[in-house]
Amino acid sequence: MDTNQPLIEINNLSYRYDKENVLENVNLQVENGSFLAIVGPNGSGKSTLLKLILGLLNPQHGEIRMFGKDSNTFREREKIGFVSQKANSFNTGFPATVFEVVASGLAKKLGLFRFLKKEDREMVYRAISSVGMEKFAGRNIGELSGGQQQRVFIARALAGTPELLVLDEPTVGVDAKSVQSFYELLGKLNREKGLTLLMVTHDIGAVSEKVTSVACLNKELFFHGSTKEFEQLKMEDVSGIYGHDVKLIHHDHQSEKQGEDMA
Ligand SMILES: Nc1ncnc2c1ncn2[C@@H]1O[C@H](COP(=O)(O)OP(=O)(O)OP(=O)(O)O)[C@@H](O)[C@H]1O
Ligand SMILES: [Mg+2]
Repeated sequence: MDTNQPLIEINNLSYRYDKENVLENVNLQVENGSFLAIVGPNGSGKSTLLKLILGLLNPQHGEIRMFGKDSNTFREREKIGFVSQKANSFNTGFPATVFEVVASGLAKKLGLFRFLKKEDREMVYRAISSVGMEKFAGRNIGELSGGQQQRVFIARALAGTPELLVLDEPTVGVDAKSVQSFYELLGKLNREKGLTLLMVTHDIGAVSEKVTSVACLNKELFFHGSTKEFEQLKMEDVSGIYGHDVKLIHHDHQSEKQGEDMA
């Protein structure tokens, strides 16, 4: 593919489950090497948009181009890693080690029941160490904190060496300190490994320094621009997007608390 071509290109996309559109005329480009945060209130279509991008749903109107190819014919799914909104409700009683959970991320490439070769095992260890969890490789997943489990789910997504990592609210239920180190990790993967990241989040304040751009969705795409432009948005614009008053600028600590409630 042409290196200047956007990794994801969405043109005039609309989608509905029943009568009413939940996405309407969305146009969005995600450049190779960028870190895009998608924000918007509950029910605004964020997860639906991700499912369309992941090829779990098909566009009814408009088109999505992935790595330059129409999403209906795009087959190189191993180029995309996904950490779902539900990852953190994973059954923690599940008897699997960190190594096994991460190795399951190779299943797409290998088929579920194949033995791991030496190079596969090395790939798994590389993914585990890239999220700083090497000490825990043999530990049962259920015996980790929520933040540590999230790191393992990222490692699982990374084990397949994707070019794009898609995350749907990956920090729900993770404490503030772990959230910060989790975002540090994402920022590092983006800067140092050139991994393209697309993340739905409700705590834009905490991640705004790590992301390269922000998109605000509420059925329609209301805004897409740099973090700086996003922070310069006027309050009335943001309230318009959310349909009620919100505060999401994170600079002064008084508004920070309210910012957490923004969605
Ligand atoms: N499988 C489905 N069938 C019918 N309607 C659905 C389905 N999935 C989602 N919806 C509806 O589509 C709209 C968008 O849902 P979506 O899950 O994309 O929102 P979201 O922005 O991810 O919300 P949240 O912040 O709560 O995760 C909602 O009104 C939801 O009720
Ligand atoms: Mg969602």
